[in-house]
Amino acid sequence: MGNATLARRASEGNSRRASSRNSPSLARRASVLVIAVLILHSLSAIAPAADSALDLFRQRITPILQAKNPSSCSECHLSGVDLKDYIGKTQEETFAALRDAGLVDVKKPAQSKLLAFIARKPAKTSLVSDKVRQQEYDAFKAWIEAASKDPKLAAAKTGDANLGPSVDDEVIRHARKDQVLASFLDNVWSEVGRCAACHSPDRNQKQVKEHGAKVSWIKLRDPQGTLDDLLTTGIIDAEAPEQSLLLMKPTNQVKHGGGVKLVIGDQTYKQFRAFIEDYAASSAGKYKTAKDLPQERVEASAVTDIWFKLEGVPPKFDQQLLQVDLYRWDEKTKNWSQDRWATGDRQVFGKGQLWQQHLSVTAPRNSSRAKEVAEKPTLPAGKYLAKIYIDQAGKLQKDYQAVLGEGDFVGQFEFDSKWPAGYGAMTSVRFPK
Ligand code: HEC
Ligand code: HEC
Repeated sequence: MGNATLARRASEGNSRRASSRNSPSLARRASVLVIAVLILHSLSAIAPAADSALDLFRQRITPILQAKNPSSCSECHLSGVDLKDYIGKTQEETFAALRDAGLVDVKKPAQSKLLAFIARKPAKTSLVSDKVRQQEYDAFKAWIEAASKDPKLAAAKTGDANLGPSVDDEVIRHARKDQVLASFLDNVWSEVGRCAACHSPDRNQKQVKEHGAKVSWIKLRDPQGTLDDLLTTGIIDAEAPEQSLLLMKPTNQVKHGGGVKLVIGDQTYKQFRAFIEDYAASSAGKYKTAKDLPQERVEASAVTDIWFKLEGVPPKFDQQLLQVDLYRWDEKTKNWSQDRWATGDRQVFGKGQLWQQHLSVTAPRNSSRAKEVAEKPTLPAGKYLAKIYIDQAGKLQKDYQAVLGEGDFVGQFEFDSKWPAGYGAMTSVRFPK
């Protein structure tokens, strides 16, 4: 907006206000005008020529391209979008592309969609990001408003400038931080119950005394805080997913105070690893199209405090991974359930002829039971069929994503249980002959 326009506006405003107050003195009107002109003069002295669209573009928009830190978008988007994606080489190119993409509203510049993107705030913001966001917003607002009035820009053609994100919408969605948290809940948080006795601050006083506060990597009832912490401490290593301590410690590949808690390829390992690999790929911006994205799990599951024990396991299976899947008897159909209701997998302790593990309850994703599994993981009392699989070929060691199937089946049996919770109340059954 030129000084002349501003001055005209100011005087129009004054005369309108003046006339509504009924014939004020001419002298007063003149003095108001003089003051307005003086103010405008001093303003233009502070910010010389910051009013042409091109100056605004050069002074306030292009510097965003050079900014070392990520834009405010990164507060909600892990990757896939950045404000830099919306800035082209020249002012004309940028304006035309944003206008044609419907992101700039030439008629109502202040209501441009791009400004709404920038204005978006998460529930919990930080001072730093608030400041960055405000700067970005003010810069784009000033430039869009000035540019929308510039007839040369109004005539600008898009050419081959292709501004905006360069990845599929599905990828943008997948890399949103709320989606990342949902995946953390599904894959990791649902299983940390296996680690809670020694790593949750409500239960690990003894470990803290011996090893320091850092053993409390679980933040009580705070999955987002836990994830943030795992990332800052490097327990999740996005640069080398497989080497993450979250995998190396419980498998005892790096000596672990808690001993062997997971084996490579067991269900919990698979889920932890899937989350970390996915996080690493997302944060590095490796996904481009919907086809690159990993498959969602077909099952919902959550670890319980219900223990299951097999006695009399032949010692020849020592150290091999044994998986039990439980199917529930259905009185109505007089048949076993189609889908498993619970599962557990762990190494056999050959010397003790023993296998025991906390069960995870399971349900097909999107089934009515899936919600119960997430909210209140329990197992109803009744009659069950246990199917047992053992990884005798050691295939999970070679490929952690392998699954045990028909070829690994060793037997099945029926039994009844009330499924009381707690290590001291575990359901114990004899291994089938
Ligand atoms: C407060 C969190 C938040 C911030 C900050 C944020 N976004 Fe988003 N973004 C979302 C959500 C949530 C969606 C999902 C769809 C929706 O609600 O429109 C989304 C979707 C999108 C999409 C998908 C297409 C569409 O039209 O919805 C794009 C592109 C996008 N955001 C770009 C940006 C850019 C660029 C920035 C930074 C200038 C940004 N976002 C900042 C939360 C945010
Ligand atoms: C019986 C107790 C116990 C259980 C259960 C246990 N841990 Fe540990 N863990 C420890 C102790 C003690 C330490 C500290 C000594 C060390 O670093 O090995 C530790 C250390 C760790 C560390 C390193 C923390 C750091 O910042 O240095 C990670 C990661 C870890 N455990 C992961 C796990 C995971 C994942 C599980 C569950 C699958 C688990 N632990 C279950 C006892 C346990």
